[in-house]
Amino acid sequence: MPNKPVIFVTRNLPDAVTQRLTASYETRLNPGDAVLSPDQVLKGAEGADALLVTPTDKLTADLIAKLPKSVRMIATFSVGYEHIDVNAAKARGLPVSNTPDVLTDATADIALLLMLGAARRAYEGERAVREASWKSWSTTYMLGTHMTGKRLGIFGMGRIGQAVAKRARAFDMQIHYFNRRRLPAHQEMGAVYHPSADEMLPYCDFLSINAPGGPETLHWLNAARIARLPDKAIVVNTARGGLVDDTALIAALRSGKLFAAGLDVFEGEPNLNPEYRSLPNAFLLPHLGSATIETRNAMGFKALDNLDAFFEGRELPDRVV
Ligand code: DGY
Repeated sequence: MPNKPVIFVTRNLPDAVTQRLTASYETRLNPGDAVLSPDQVLKGAEGADALLVTPTDKLTADLIAKLPKSVRMIATFSVGYEHIDVNAAKARGLPVSNTPDVLTDATADIALLLMLGAARRAYEGERAVREASWKSWSTTYMLGTHMTGKRLGIFGMGRIGQAVAKRARAFDMQIHYFNRRRLPAHQEMGAVYHPSADEMLPYCDFLSINAPGGPETLHWLNAARIARLPDKAIVVNTARGGLVDDTALIAALRSGKLFAAGLDVFEGEPNLNPEYRSLPNAFLLPHLGSATIETRNAMGFKALDNLDAFFEGRELPDRVV
């Protein structure tokens, strides 16, 4: 078909997604998958009708202002969109879409993995086996802490927070939550709502961070809030690294105020605060929340559904602005 819209794709995509994309569009791809600089993004955008970006692309107001006039839409391969200045996009009349729902289960699974891994000292145990420092079974060797029956506080009870709660109920955990809006009873399912996050913190034997990133939540988990948590609490973060004040969290992990943390996301990732690497009570993953084949394909297809809708003149199914 002549005159197919041109899509500039900033990062490599799963094969099935690339196949569908190239069948419908003219494409500019990045098979080498290097993270592009703002100048490279602007160069790639020249003459493109739409951009398919990822959380590693920082679409600031400045970059958006410099985008060529040809660009009419931005689709992000992610549910989070704090990497895009959506107000600047809106001001330019550029619709932005994201990929909600399809990564809810995968991300909630990783939150549970982090909770268990942190509570049961999975990193230390794994390292002991590999390094052959494990001497024998003993009644007091590498004792973790129980998850069953404990209180879990969820900061941000959206789709992913609710999916974390669903899984935690299988461990007989008591769910507490803070959300900007209280959920209706059928979604709350007995979870205890706290009108402020600070009021919830003393009830969190485990705290799961599931709120969006961005300026409103920057360094939300700071020293003062950590002090409100029960001693020996466990913190897990599958949302965005920026929600955590790393200096405060590292100090609390070192002092023993917190038992452990499980982190899948980091401020400035992949260049995380190097002190995390030396902490035995930090269970660390490289932003794997949505990293299953099924989920990444579904995210890509959702991004394409939005591009298709735009170029067919339909309302975007997942419009952010
Ligand atoms: C998202 O989609 O925002 C996730 O962080 C990617 O795993």
